[in-house]
Amino acid sequence: MLDELQAMEREALAAVRAAADGDVLGAVEATWIGRKGRITGILRSVGTLPAEQRGPVGQAANLARRAVDEALSARRTELLAGAEARLADTEWVDATLPPPAARAGVRRTGGTIHPITALTREIEDVFLSMGFDTLDGPWVEDDFHNFGALNMPADHPARDMQDTYWLSDGNLLRTHTSPVQVRAMESGAPPIRAVCLGRVFRHEELDATHENTFHQIEGFYVDRGVSVGHMLYVLRTLLREVLDDDVEVRLRPSYFPFVEPGFEMDVTFRGKWMELLGCGMVHPYVLEQGGIDPTVFSGFAFGLGIDRLVMLKHGVEDLRHFMDGDLRFLRQFGGGLEG
Ligand code: DAH
Repeated sequence: MLDELQAMEREALAAVRAAADGDVLGAVEATWIGRKGRITGILRSVGTLPAEQRGPVGQAANLARRAVDEALSARRTELLAGAEARLADTEWVDATLPPPAARAGVRRTGGTIHPITALTREIEDVFLSMGFDTLDGPWVEDDFHNFGALNMPADHPARDMQDTYWLSDGNLLRTHTSPVQVRAMESGAPPIRAVCLGRVFRHEELDATHENTFHQIEGFYVDRGVSVGHMLYVLRTLLREVLDDDVEVRLRPSYFPFVEPGFEMDVTFRGKWMELLGCGMVHPYVLEQGGIDPTVFSGFAFGLGIDRLVMLKHGVEDLRHFMDGDLRFLRQFGGGLEG
């Protein structure tokens, strides 16, 4: 019996060594030490042997089983290493090569920052350097913040100039960034210096100078003793930074319900006067609606279209280019992602 076991062990170990893959190893394992394996069979039958043989045969069978088991796992490791080495030999990649398209002569270009985003960031930087905060407001506004608090009650004719997308719940898509003034006053106390740059929506017939979605910047400064002089200084600084050092400005009296007095500001650009923005001293009624005492505080506010400013700056002739996603248009503002 002991001789027989030794022979079995030799045979099993030879089979393990000869096995060329995991499947064969599995079969060898089943043949010898699996549940119905031959060495397992001997272990199971130990109890039926004469008493004096049980010890030595049991021991020998256990040793044989362990030897085969160890040989199996050693061979498995060996086969795996071989497979990996073969993979490394056949499937390697040279990471220093240019990508396939570039090799074939196709030029890859990076993305670019949208001109409106680029100017928005530039303007925010100018205002941050003057100590202004930047604020966000909701695109979906209520009647009070978009109109009522800005001195445009329900039947006010100025509402007609801002063709409004009304929502079924009575709210609306903000038609300008001015409601952010009211929200800032409601939630803060003077001094308030802030700008809000963001999207606005109007129910417009689309053409080269009208979009139904465009971008505005709203700026305002509320404190004791704020005057038109402060407003001029801030606006001049903005326009010099984003347009041109030599830009000249002039104010014309104008009417907006939320400022008194109200003005339009024109700038000289490339030798011509251009109408650019609305501004004025925040109307006492608006201050009151924001919870600020107009007998103590005053403020200025201004609003302008960012899209129009980009058109002016880059000589873009059609507003619709900004939203139609044509890459040939957008790539002209190249300069890469660092924008
Ligand atoms: N909200 C105005 C509009 O969209 C622009 C504007 C004009 C804003 C005068 C102001 C302002 O803050 O003082 O047409």
